[in-house]
Amino acid sequence: MHLLISVSVCLLLAVTAVAQKPHPCKSPPFMVGRVTLLSPKGQLVAYERFTYDALGKRIRARVQGTNHNHSFHVDILALFQEGVVYEISYRNQTCKKSALKAPFQPIQIPQNATFQAQVIIGSSSGPGQGLLVNNWFGDIPEQKAKYFLTFTEFGCLPITNLYNSEQTGWILTSFFDLVIGIEDPEDFIPPDFCDTKPVDKGEEVVTDFFEVLLKKH
Ligand SMILES: *[C@@H]1O[C@H](CO)[C@@H](O)[C@H](O)[C@H]1NC(C)=O
Ligand SMILES: *[C@@H]1O[C@H](CO)[C@@H](O)[C@H](O)[C@H]1NC(C)=O
Ligand SMILES: *[C@@H]1O[C@H](CO)[C@@H](O)[C@H](O)[C@H]1NC(C)=O
Repeated sequence: MHLLISVSVCLLLAVTAVAQKPHPCKSPPFMVGRVTLLSPKGQLVAYERFTYDALGKRIRARVQGTNHNHSFHVDILALFQEGVVYEISYRNQTCKKSALKAPFQPIQIPQNATFQAQVIIGSSSGPGQGLLVNNWFGDIPEQKAKYFLTFTEFGCLPITNLYNSEQTGWILTSFFDLVIGIEDPEDFIPPDFCDTKPVDKGEEVVTDFFEVLLKKH
């Protein structure tokens, strides 16, 4: 009898779990990890290490890649609250500062995204062989853009982001080796050789974080 009850409780739980549709979720506010970025139109392939702080609206990204067959290496510190982006080169001891006019976009499923499906990447046949994820899609009419997102069911961690707009073409971003938390708070401090005075008027303006990667390399 006891066994029967626990079995039916388990079944009940299983049924409720299936019936519950995932809700749009927000990733943890502090993360470090790695990203690959592929953009067929710009012929861009980039591999980056990033540190992400959604509360302080700060991103540090050390990027290696090729764009139209030219290899590049950039070290970017984007401080969205201050409205400043630094391009840092330790080797040359140079630091290029630009005004950053882009809004900070937290890593999350937008509230108006449409849930597509819950699937397992890999297999559910054995422990550790699969990862339970949710697929979402949506539109951003202002940018004439659409996106497809895959995030983990547990932890709301990003796996892939496929983005398309007329301006950028398709961009595929894949996340991996994520660690929750900030490993080195210094990542958000510009090095000594950076000019940290407020950005002057005449200085270059960056309106989109991707622009830093896409435009000059
Ligand atoms: C890139 O380099 C490869 C090999 O050198 C060449 O075949 C290809 O046409 C180049 N692509 C572009 C876009 O220049
Ligand atoms: C560093 O200096 C070299 C040689 O002057 C130059 O070719 C390169 O573009 C510089 N890199 C950066 C990131 O400023
Ligand atoms: C979804 O929400 C975003 C952010 O609020 C907005 O920019 C976008 O236009 C919305 N998409 C649609 C299809 O309404």
